[in-house]
Amino acid sequence: MMAFRALAWIALILLGLSNVNGQLNSTFYDSTCPNMSSTIQAVVKQAIANESRMGASIVRLHFHDCFVNGCDGSILLDDSVNITGEKTAGPNNNSVRGFDVIDTIKSQVEAMCSGVVSCADILAIAARDSVVALGGPSWKVQLGRRDSLTANLSGANRDLPSPTSSLNTLISAFNAKGLSTRDMIALSGAHTIGQARCTTFRTRIYNETNINSTFASSVQANCPFSGGDNNLSPLDVQTPTTFDIDYYTNLMSQQGLLHSDQELFNNGSADSQVTTYANNQTTFFSDFAAAMVNMGNISPLIGSSGQVRTSCRKPN
Ligand code: HEM
Ligand SMILES: *[C@@H]1O[C@H](CO)[C@@H](O)[C@H](O)[C@H]1NC(C)=O
Ligand SMILES: *[C@@H]1O[C@H](CO)[C@@H](O)[C@H](O)[C@H]1NC(C)=O
Ligand SMILES: *[C@@H]1O[C@H](CO)[C@@H](O)[C@H](O)[C@H]1NC(C)=O
Ligand SMILES: *[C@@H]1O[C@H](CO)[C@@H](O)[C@H](O)[C@H]1NC(C)=O
Ligand SMILES: *[C@@H]1O[C@H](CO)[C@@H](O)[C@H](O)[C@H]1NC(C)=O
Ligand SMILES: *[C@@H]1O[C@H](CO)[C@@H](O)[C@H](O)[C@H]1NC(C)=O
Ligand SMILES: *[C@@H]1O[C@H](CO)[C@@H](O)[C@H](O)[C@H]1NC(C)=O
Ligand SMILES: *[C@@H]1O[C@H](CO)[C@@H](O)[C@H](O)[C@H]1NC(C)=O
Ligand SMILES: *[C@@H]1O[C@H](CO)[C@@H](O)[C@H](O)[C@H]1NC(C)=O
Ligand SMILES: *[C@@H]1O[C@H](CO)[C@@H](O)[C@H](O)[C@H]1NC(C)=O
Repeated sequence: MMAFRALAWIALILLGLSNVNGQLNSTFYDSTCPNMSSTIQAVVKQAIANESRMGASIVRLHFHDCFVNGCDGSILLDDSVNITGEKTAGPNNNSVRGFDVIDTIKSQVEAMCSGVVSCADILAIAARDSVVALGGPSWKVQLGRRDSLTANLSGANRDLPSPTSSLNTLISAFNAKGLSTRDMIALSGAHTIGQARCTTFRTRIYNETNINSTFASSVQANCPFSGGDNNLSPLDVQTPTTFDIDYYTNLMSQQGLLHSDQELFNNGSADSQVTTYANNQTTFFSDFAAAMVNMGNISPLIGSSGQVRTSCRKPN
């Protein structure tokens, strides 16, 4: 009897441990919408085949969702009479994109299993599929998030990191979300894909000294000292549509585009991890995948909290 009780307790504890993040698991839709993952993957692949940058834009949407009130689909809500959305927050305005792709996914998934798959989970899966489609690692996406009824504009302005951040500010911003410094350095490797607007890096390319001068002049050509705020440059000058280690090798030759990027390799405490990733893609890929799972676990709505939106742009 005693032995049985002890075993029962151990079993309960193990169950609890396997469910530390509560709540999410990778089989959540296995019986309720078994084909949703192939549907999401097909739309993502098609969107990237049409425009490879779209993969980057979708990965960033998931990040900007998770850092504001947790991964709850709040970034997807449009402004309405009832809601002030997050789309016009400083880090998002004229910058976040990919909403049409998420709408296409949502309508196909709704047609298959109505009211079942949340927008927050669609973002998490589409982000993983985007990384894979561009040559990066794969991972099992944890599922079971529900969608918020509201957004948090001031939260977006406060919690999304700025490209002028120092290393310490970046570390604190991620720590505040329960992510380690190691996670932060790995997740920053997402800047191996996608583009940034001139306004986000102008000061760096004209006024900073820890920048490769050949690189600075070439970027200046499309980012004038004044004007051209929305002109784009690739975050990874070598291979902007391939998910690889070039983000880190660029940092080592002082070719980080954003001030915040170069902060990770500037004779500071992040240098050694940058060097590790620049020398070993396997290590980067496995750390990035683990960090994406950690980011995806930021305070999800679960159980009966929130709802599964029918349209990702507004509450039901
Ligand atoms: C470490 C702090 C970070 C800062 C300061 C930062 C800042 C930025 C900025 C300023 C841009 C360009 C936006 C624009 O031109 O309007 C950008 C783009 C991007 N960011 Fe970050 N970011 C950070 C972390 C991350 C993370 C954690 C991810 C994903 C895991 C990510 C994914 C991306 C991607 C993929 C793009 C390109 C998007 C596109 O081309 O549409 N970033 N980021
Ligand atoms: C996954 O989570 C859901 C909701 O918490 C639960 O009903 C389901 O049993 C879980 N599946 C596994 C394999 O743990
Ligand atoms: C699942 O979805 C994919 C992609 O949309 C499609 O090709 C496939 O036929 C679907 N399978 C089933 C069983 O519905
Ligand atoms: C394809 O990408 C272009 C931008 O390169 C965009 O304007 C267009 O809407 C996209 N088409 C589809 C079907 O996604
Ligand atoms: C705003 O909220 C009211 C009351 O819940 C609802 O009737 C109305 O449809 C909402 N409007 C929009 C645009 O969501
Ligand atoms: C967002 O961008 C638009 C277009 O550039 C601008 O008119 C508007 O003032 C911006 N909104 C905020 C809140 O900055
Ligand atoms: C919005 O986000 C901030 C964090 O920056 C938080 O303190 C606040 O409680 C959030 N507001 C709502 C209504 O969720
Ligand atoms: C560069 O620094 C100078 C002197 O501090 C300042 O006047 C100028 O506006 C800065 N330029 C940019 C693009 O930040
Ligand atoms: C500067 O960048 C160029 C390519 O743009 C590269 O060939 C050179 O090695 C870099 N210089 C340094 C010091 O890293
Ligand atoms: C880093 O330290 C080296 C050696 O002390 C020095 O030559 C270099 O300029 C420093 N780089 C930066 C960006 O401070
Ligand atoms: C890269 O790192 C992995 C562990 O992440 C290790 O097994 C492998 O030997 C390393 N490869 C090289 C070339 O150092």
